[in-house]
Amino acid sequence: MPIVTYHLPDGTATDVDVQVGQTIMDGSTRNNLPGIVAECGGSCSCATCHVHVDATSNGLFAEPAEEETELLEFLDGACDRSRLSCQLVVPDTDERIEIHVVDSR
Ligand code: FES
Repeated sequence: MPIVTYHLPDGTATDVDVQVGQTIMDGSTRNNLPGIVAECGGSCSCATCHVHVDATSNGLFAEPAEEETELLEFLDGACDRSRLSCQLVVPDTDERIEIHVVDSR
């Protein structure tokens, strides 16, 4: 199972095994990690699942769809590494996936 390292807003990091096909949001909320609120439950409408994908892991994910890009445009603290974690599907990879969690509260 791929390992996702969640770099949390408090400066700590937690490794989680996340099944292929689940989302980065799933791996966080199922383990009660802080930072990803995921108010809409993953339907790409709330933007409270904002993360920054580490440069080393950027190529592992599909490009954002238009609705995700539009939400990110209006988000405080968004940058070119910003993604909505409910739209990031974990691929079948041996590489560690590095995610920087932005506190969405
Ligand atoms: S959980 Fe709401 S947009 Fe991702």
